[in-house]
Amino acid sequence: MRPSEIEWYWYIKFHDMNETHLKMVQIKILTKIFKTFSGTKKRSVPPTDGPAYWNHVARHMGLKSHYLDPFLGEMKRQAHLSLVQRWGGLPVTGRVLKTDLFEEAMGPDALLTDLPNYGGMILGMDVSAAIAIQARRRDADLHAYYVAADVRRLPFANGTFSLIISTSTLDHFRDPSDLNRSLRQLARVLEPGGQLIVTLDNRQNLLDFLLRFISRMGWLPYYTGRSYKVDELCAELETVGLVVKDTTAILHNPRLMAVVAVSFTNKLRCRVLTTLVHRALVAFQKMGKTRWRYRTGSFVAARAVRPVMCVNGCGTALDPTECVA
Ligand SMILES: C[S@@+](CC[C@H](N)C(=O)[O-])C[C@H]1O[C@@H](n2cnc3c(N)ncnc32)[C@H](O)[C@@H]1O
Repeated sequence: MRPSEIEWYWYIKFHDMNETHLKMVQIKILTKIFKTFSGTKKRSVPPTDGPAYWNHVARHMGLKSHYLDPFLGEMKRQAHLSLVQRWGGLPVTGRVLKTDLFEEAMGPDALLTDLPNYGGMILGMDVSAAIAIQARRRDADLHAYYVAADVRRLPFANGTFSLIISTSTLDHFRDPSDLNRSLRQLARVLEPGGQLIVTLDNRQNLLDFLLRFISRMGWLPYYTGRSYKVDELCAELETVGLVVKDTTAILHNPRLMAVVAVSFTNKLRCRVLTTLVHRALVAFQKMGKTRWRYRTGSFVAARAVRPVMCVNGCGTALDPTECVA
């Protein structure tokens, strides 16, 4: 049997090494393992979480295929679209904002272009200009407008939007207090009576610790900040003056396991096995109707409303029609 070129390479490399060389290689490997596990080498924490970092992520990921395969991407997309639908759909008129464009730029889980025919204006924003430009390029029919902006410092006037959709944008900050800063900004640009639908990585998910571990090791394609319990999310929303109307958890699959299982079956190219895994993942969505939903959902979700201030002194109401003279 002829050894492959790689085997020859390693054979020659190690054969030529003397004892000292081998010791040095051993020390290098051990130092690397120690640094990774002791936390001295947190590759996942970027020096900044501003546009430069996310532009870099976009360039890096643009060269590779997306981490979500089309089936998982479609599941994620459907989970978010049906959440928007279930929580009242698009407003009759007014502007709609989505707080990041990651899916629209490079994923199989884009939402914006699939929001049902809407007469009002749809605006997508992202802190990364590269991501916003890429999202614009993919939207051939120009369903939406695209801008580069930071959700912590929104360049929009008070009360600009009737609906804001924020899908796992606010859980990527290095400084956790940026969540509150961003929610304050989102509450400001919501019109009175307008709605915010927000999702974040779910801290109550049974496998959240695994996601944190993998993120800490730097094995994810981007930085993930902290995750949140449903009560923590509600408390944050209330401190910025929004009124929480609904909460739930969505996308009930063991996220990392699903990615691994689907890529494994894809590699095997076994149709039957792939179909079985897909069916199991779809069946798992039923957990969303049980009391275990916060344990199995990948994202915790909330719908919050900006109250209407009644000028005639009846206090605050959620809907202008509730405001009695
Ligand atoms: C890793 S992605 C994940 C979010 C995506 N919606 C999803 O569910 O897969 C994070 C996105 O949020 C954007 N982002 C991060 N910080 C932001 C900020 N301060 N303002 C606006 N967008 C931000 C990033 O550029 C990136 O597109």
